[in-house]
Amino acid sequence: MAGGGDRSVMDTLHLLLLVAALPLAPGGAARSATAWTEEKNYHQPAILNSSSLRQVAEGTNISKMWQNDLRPLLIERYPGSPGSYTARQHIMKRIQRLQADWVLEVDTFLSQTPYGYRSFSNIISTLNPTAKRHLVLACHYDSKYFPHWDNNVFVGATDSAVPCAMMLELARALDKRLLSLKNISDSKPDLSLQLIFFDGEEAFFHWSPQDSLYGSRHLASKMASTLHPPGATRTNQLQGMDLLVLLDLIGAPNPVFPNFFPNSARWFNRLQAIEREFHELGLLKDHSWERQYFPSNGYRGGIQDDHIPFLRKGVPVLHLIASPFPEVWHTMEDNEEHLDEPTIDNLNKILQVFVLEYLHL
Ligand SMILES: *[C@@H]1O[C@H](CO)[C@@H](O)[C@H](O)[C@H]1NC(C)=O
Ligand SMILES: *[C@@H]1O[C@H](CO)[C@@H](O)[C@H](O)[C@H]1NC(C)=O
Ligand SMILES: *[C@@H]1O[C@H](CO)[C@@H](O)[C@H](O)[C@H]1NC(C)=O
Ligand SMILES: [Zn+2]
Repeated sequence: MAGGGDRSVMDTLHLLLLVAALPLAPGGAARSATAWTEEKNYHQPAILNSSSLRQVAEGTNISKMWQNDLRPLLIERYPGSPGSYTARQHIMKRIQRLQADWVLEVDTFLSQTPYGYRSFSNIISTLNPTAKRHLVLACHYDSKYFPHWDNNVFVGATDSAVPCAMMLELARALDKRLLSLKNISDSKPDLSLQLIFFDGEEAFFHWSPQDSLYGSRHLASKMASTLHPPGATRTNQLQGMDLLVLLDLIGAPNPVFPNFFPNSARWFNRLQAIEREFHELGLLKDHSWERQYFPSNGYRGGIQDDHIPFLRKGVPVLHLIASPFPEVWHTMEDNEEHLDEPTIDNLNKILQVFVLEYLHL
């Protein structure tokens, strides 16, 4: 692999050649349009000290998350089902009650499935929709469709009720600090936060390019054709995505999250450093360094998930999926009984610090 220094010289040369080749737009618009979409490549976190980490650990509350965010999601909620509607209402209500000014959008569409046309609804919750750049956290709120037998219902606890509940708890625990994002000033990057709850991640029948990722495929192409920020003529919403952090298959004991992508490795390394810092402060429960969540194992092959349509369109991705998958994956045992509360609590703390550092809060 080429050295980092050589590569940035190359990139600068590219940029200079590109700018020189463009007819100069009035007011140098072409130049600045190029500049802001590159900012994510140079973005640095504002690293929190140990007293701030303590505050985060005290501010998050796993019992609250369990009771108020998670339990209501542990129902059958495949696309178009009554539970899907209930889950959607629940997610939106939990966000609407917060102080920070979340703008909620429901992206509803029809798609052909092996069972005919079905309706899907992604939920997009955005702070400062007019900010140029957004850090994006995402999960899928649909559960996989399984025919019923013996009164068993598939509720997809790790897949992905827990990841969605973790995002809701993050929004609650950081509410006051996220409120201050309203004040985007010259001293801060023009950067905010977005939460995406995808519908239709799961295949209805057999996983295939046509039968899977319904919500993310739809939203990625919609965002690619939506100009952004307001008044822009040549940049779109996907270019406004700094980093897509996709959470999936979380909640089983002893998870391992591999590092999948070289271009987001420095953000993976932050998760690793935050885990270590919390560990050394003794603020993680039942946690041993021999079983760290974010190990340095080199890159792993990718896994098909909601990030794929975005990745293909050039969005940087951090895929937080336990691999190997939880033992209960796609079985009726993927339920509340098999969740590991201390692990989820630990991951909440790590994720919350990651977001605060990314957003300079
Ligand atoms: C840690 O950071 C906070 C917030 O920036 C600051 O107010 C505090 O003084 C720092 N504490 C220490 C011990 O450095
Ligand atoms: C967490 O929330 C529960 C339920 O709301 C509450 O009873 C408990 O006191 C909270 N714990 C902490 C440490 O704040
Ligand atoms: C925004 O900044 C203004 C002026 O500095 C301040 O008065 C106000 O409290 C801030 N609002 C928030 C939500 O932080
Ligand atoms: Zn699944």
